[in-house]
Amino acid sequence: MIFGIQIIGVIFALFMTYLTFLYYKRGNYHLRDFGVWMFVWLSFICVVLSPTSFGGLLNPLKVSRLMVVVGTRPEIIKMSPVIRECERQGLDFFTLHTGQHYSHNMDGVFFEQLGLPDAGYNLDVGSGSHAEQTGKILSGVEGVLVKESPDVVLVEGDTNTVLAAALAASKLHIGVGHVEAGLRSFDKGMPEEVNRVLTDHCSDLLFAPTGGAYINLVSENIPKEKVFVTGNTVVDAVNRNLGIADGVVDVFGDLGVEPGEFFLFTLHRQENVDDGKRLGSILKGLELLSHEFGLRVVYPVHPRTRKMIEGFGFHINGMDLIEPVDYLRFLQLESRARLVLTDSGGVQEEACVLGVPCVTLREAAILRGFWSAHD
Ligand code: UD1
Ligand code: UDP
Repeated sequence: MIFGIQIIGVIFALFMTYLTFLYYKRGNYHLRDFGVWMFVWLSFICVVLSPTSFGGLLNPLKVSRLMVVVGTRPEIIKMSPVIRECERQGLDFFTLHTGQHYSHNMDGVFFEQLGLPDAGYNLDVGSGSHAEQTGKILSGVEGVLVKESPDVVLVEGDTNTVLAAALAASKLHIGVGHVEAGLRSFDKGMPEEVNRVLTDHCSDLLFAPTGGAYINLVSENIPKEKVFVTGNTVVDAVNRNLGIADGVVDVFGDLGVEPGEFFLFTLHRQENVDDGKRLGSILKGLELLSHEFGLRVVYPVHPRTRKMIEGFGFHINGMDLIEPVDYLRFLQLESRARLVLTDSGGVQEEACVLGVPCVTLREAAILRGFWSAHD
């Protein structure tokens, strides 16, 4: 579309140049007026064709081909507003799915519900150790980049998908845009902290959600010109889908819980769930809370945590353990929970946007500066 506007601009200017010339030939213009008009029209052509001026205004990223990368549930949700905007602007883009998440309730259901176009590529890397998963994504993404030659690769967040895709693009000198850049927990023990720091340092465009994230980046000597404070795409996703949810789903009827009469709980961080003692004590704490307040705990269990609960042989009482739910049902639950208890980055942010009280079950939160952006 942008290219089309530029062509129309050039044709228009050439036509006007021709008319000016005809008028001059007929003696309607003096030589000086003719010179002025020719200068105007030829300058117009230069401006329209220049990628950094008028053309640049129409195409702020100054790219002609974009590759949008997703791999896990939160990336699909948080990239959905970006993908919609690419569609709206008629940009030349395609989506690459690494397949880090692959179960229908962690992946396909979000594409369906958010009305996203099918991914052009799915690497189907699946689960594995950090090195195995990251390595598979790195080489899979490289193959697609060599074939498709995009100008910029957009990644979102801090998963293994994000680091591997950013690294593959960076090694091929393809621009990397990092959505949700600059969040820090300052705890290198978390795999996500390593992913987000390394991704930021090999990115060319850093889309910081908040002023706090901007400060984090600049204090790590990332040049200011590369950083854009954009807000958080989770806000766009919530605003767009919350209104839709009530007309389409009824999670309260499905689960038999009353709005406002339950706690919503999620837990999946490696540091919380892979350690049996820690996982056991968090689950025990939730059981006590439910008993103390006489409220049910609705707990959509992440597949990682399900595997751990079964592996440790825990028997859980006083909680409604359910499969992960789709986005609209989850938003409905979140918006009417008495309290949210979570170790999820995305769920914390959504609770903030929805104005629902939230307890973060983590040693270190990554949301420095998040609140100020949405006050
Ligand atoms: C990953 C991200 C984490 C993010 C989370 C979002 C990394 C290092 N971690 O953690 O930052 O917050 O996604 O949910 O990138 N499994 C399934 N089906 C699936 C996906 C996973 O059953 O579709 C199970 C597998 O047993 C797998 C385990 O969950 O071994 C963990 O999956 P993995 O993608 O390695 O990490 P997450 O804990 O999901
Ligand atoms: N979510 C969902 N269904 C669920 C649990 C979470 O749709 O059963 C959504 C939630 O609304 C949020 C995102 O998944 O947008 C958070 O994903 P997750 O907790 O897996 O990852 P994190 O944000 O911690 O990286």
